[in-house]
Amino acid sequence: SPLLFHSPPLQPFRDELPRLPVLSGSAVELDAHSGAHSFHADLAPAPTFGYGELDYLGPTIESEQGQPWTLRYTNSTEGNPLAADIDTSLHGMSEHDRHLTPTSLHLHGGITPPDSDGHSEMLVRPGESLTHSFPGLNDAAGLWYHDHAMSMTRINVYAGLVGTNLVRDQFDSGLADNSLGLPSGEFEIPLVLQEKIMNPDGSMSIRSNITVPQGKWEGGGTGDVGVVNGKIWPTMEVARGLYRFRIVNAGSYSVWNLFFSNRMKFWVIGNDGGLLDAPVQTDGIRLAPAERVDVLVDFGAVEPGEVIELRNDEPPPAQAASLGAVPMPLFCQFRVASARGFAGEVMTMYRGGKGQPALLPPMPTPTFTRTVTVNQPSAGLSLAPPMMTLNNLRYSDPDIEMPAQGVVEQWNIVNTTLEPHPIHLHLVHFRTLGRAPVDLAAYQRDNPRPGIGVKWAPDVERYCTGPLVAPAPWEAGAKDTVNTYPGTVTRILVRFPLADELGFDPDATFSTISNHHASSQHASRHGSGSELRGYMWHCHMLDHEDHEMMLRYRVLG
Ligand code: C2O
Ligand code: CU
Repeated sequence: SPLLFHSPPLQPFRDELPRLPVLSGSAVELDAHSGAHSFHADLAPAPTFGYGELDYLGPTIESEQGQPWTLRYTNSTEGNPLAADIDTSLHGMSEHDRHLTPTSLHLHGGITPPDSDGHSEMLVRPGESLTHSFPGLNDAAGLWYHDHAMSMTRINVYAGLVGTNLVRDQFDSGLADNSLGLPSGEFEIPLVLQEKIMNPDGSMSIRSNITVPQGKWEGGGTGDVGVVNGKIWPTMEVARGLYRFRIVNAGSYSVWNLFFSNRMKFWVIGNDGGLLDAPVQTDGIRLAPAERVDVLVDFGAVEPGEVIELRNDEPPPAQAASLGAVPMPLFCQFRVASARGFAGEVMTMYRGGKGQPALLPPMPTPTFTRTVTVNQPSAGLSLAPPMMTLNNLRYSDPDIEMPAQGVVEQWNIVNTTLEPHPIHLHLVHFRTLGRAPVDLAAYQRDNPRPGIGVKWAPDVERYCTGPLVAPAPWEAGAKDTVNTYPGTVTRILVRFPLADELGFDPDATFSTISNHHASSQHASRHGSGSELRGYMWHCHMLDHEDHEMMLRYRVLG
């Protein structure tokens, strides 16, 4: 299409699927730095960001439930590989940020004290460090860490600042003798899925829409090549047996409907917050940005010599499609060898049962109901970048949600736009009750939306036009991100924890200046720093959270 940029033609399966290095220990050190990375055997290395020993992406950090750990994070970046794409008109940005990259490391899904959460306003600037304390409160789960700098997240993540964190426990130790019998070692592989547009010189393009000038926020960049663990359409030889893939949608914008080319069934055993109560057999998974699935695949059921692709058949979103976006159909390839691999009994690899972790607690009963809205006030399919908001508010507007500690709330998230939006809450895990269709025309007619900056979240109950549709089976567990569909209300149940249970005060104040001295050059963005409280909730389409689809929230004591 003439309105979108495209990658040059590239041959798939030229690169081996990389296995990311593993880091562990109670005192991890990690820097974000500038590097050069080749995304494909036929592409030259080009500037990227990486964490730790990698020049693109970060190592897999293994931590243990119940074991506190610290992460000393240093911003060693020099410049920004996407400097020309930075939009300095977005919230909080200044011209300095184009070359002195502000960063913030967030452990997504982590139960983390406010001053260690990687708040978008708590920036670590080039040459500065911050020590994050993680109390180890999470269940065994596949978390991930990524940059979260205000108005820069889509840029810094696309440039490479993404890694995974596997939380282990006594049942899921990552060792061969784990009591659940899970595939481990070479048979357990994190798969960091992304999509990109490449330039012929091997560099990444974060631009997809020709009509938006470079350096202006685009609204939702799509890609046309699939990237797994940093390589475009890689290939991997697998033994005939079970593999455990820890999959994260680390893309900027796209929702993917993942399946194997031979349509074989596989099992989902966990999602965002940990293991499910029972393995769910499926032949496809719909995964929105930031969602994770823990998947078992049995290549033992496949003939040696067979070649299977991990594919996507989710069509591009309406707005991208109107510009001519084409589907992005492929991630990677598995070549089934004749060697026998990991053998095990899938039906024991879940919660409950003998010697296994406890079942998820039953859904709690809510004592407070809160309606929130997802809006695109200047909607339509126009080419002009729209306004993206939650509750009709900008990030800086003060009318934020303030749930109380210990209270179970039902959030009714009304998506009034034409697109899905994956909504993420920091600190907490929630359960998804389901989604119901909403008569948006009547909802908006009866409750006229005021000007931006005035909270707009009318009660939705009498506008529901159909029954609650249960979440997909793999959405049944503890979630931190839920895909809200256009024209629906998504109902979730969330309990806001007590300070006593956490061992920290979730409403403690912290300073936007971290444990370092701000040089005058760096101090421009927030003056001398300010006191903040609380966490954030936001759309996890990175383009949207970088706009205004992100709000603060507090958990009151
Ligand atoms: Cu994965 Cu607020 O982020
Ligand atoms: Cu969004």
